Amino acid sequence: MARKRFIAGNWKLNLTIDEGVSLVQGLAKALAADPKSAQVEVAVCPTFLALHAVAQAAKGSAVGIGGQNAYFEEKGAFTGESSASLLKNAGAKYVILGHSERRQFFGDTDATINRRLKAVIAQGLVPILCIGETLAERDGGKLEEVLSRQLQGSLDGLTAAQLEHLVVAYEPVWAIGTGRTATTAQAQEAHAFVRGVLRKLVGELAERVRIQYGGSVKPDNAFELLSQPDVDGALVGGASLKLADFTAIIAAH
Ligand code: 13P
Repeated sequence: MARKRFIAGNWKLNLTIDEGVSLVQGLAKALAADPKSAQVEVAVCPTFLALHAVAQAAKGSAVGIGGQNAYFEEKGAFTGESSASLLKNAGAKYVILGHSERRQFFGDTDATINRRLKAVIAQGLVPILCIGETLAERDGGKLEEVLSRQLQGSLDGLTAAQLEHLVVAYEPVWAIGTGRTATTAQAQEAHAFVRGVLRKLVGELAERVRIQYGGSVKPDNAFELLSQPDVDGALVGGASLKLADFTAIIAAH
């Protein structure tokens, strides 16, 4: 089953509104100039504050826009939060959920990620569900246990029909922002395991779910990672902030 490759940039807490607009304009132009890029789905995920302006600047281009998180309630007395419906209203098509930085610094758990996922799906947005183990977990032989638990907990109560557009990002925590990428063998092994767990949870839909790799993806390692059979794309942090690097990663196929 051919899965369309999906490369997304997670800008995290970086770039001003003007910088984001200028980067997405450059990206849109670069994609328009490269007919081969139509084979790849491309998105960027700006900060909440920049999202609307970046989405406006990307209108009509091949670049989709995503949020980096979404609260599970739609509106109300929830100071400091933003909802899936607001993200959609601002121009988002995708939402990253359960990023390890959210889990580590902001208390996201599989149970709250599950509620966020349901809210995102209810709005017709495409969830990019992040999972991944810490180095201690990997070294302790807990890789499979952690990935299974995160997938089961996050997808609890959701049917295959609801998860039709699900994207999973496997991001080993020890590879994020460290310059230490998983080897291609480690990435493929984890991705194949994730697909196996998905098969048990959502049946044949698992063959269509795109599984992105994330963690120090750069132009010089993208081709090898993306050539693995179960690596269907990348979720790129640092290298997505530089137009030349991000376009080189998109072209790495
Ligand atoms: P880096 O590419 O900077 O390691 O970040 C990866 C990541 O966390 C993407 O969500």
